[in-house]
Amino acid sequence: MAMAGTAPVSAADTHGAKLARSNACLACHQIDARRVGPPFREIGKRYAGAGDPAATIEYLAGTIQNGGRGRWGAIPMPAQPRVSDADARALAEWILNMGE
Ligand code: HEC
Repeated sequence: MAMAGTAPVSAADTHGAKLARSNACLACHQIDARRVGPPFREIGKRYAGAGDPAATIEYLAGTIQNGGRGRWGAIPMPAQPRVSDADARALAEWILNMGE
């Protein structure tokens, strides 16, 4: 069972959580609550069953760096060009693992 989210980030000491904080993802995303963007856990759930996990991580890493629109609602996600390839992949994996 997921714990009711009083803390802004669960598993706060993980690499993914640190990256999410240092890259200001949390300004728009929370783990379990909708903010500007969809909750990370919901994103994880949507893509957890999407097929080949490696391809899904590639896809999500791309959306993290390039932004996206039209998948979750009216608000687009701006590109995050400061996020490196390796960090984007680590973030994508962290988010995907939440859906399991
Ligand atoms: C300015 C606000 C904002 C910031 C900053 C932001 N996001 Fe988003 N994000 C959004 C919105 C809004 C959406 C929904 C876009 C849509 O409907 O397609 C989204 C969607 C996503 C998705 C789902 C993409 C898809 O194709 O389904 C992922 C993954 C994601 N964000 C990760 C991140 C990560 C990781 C960071 C930090 C590097 C980040 N976001 C920073 C607003 C933001």
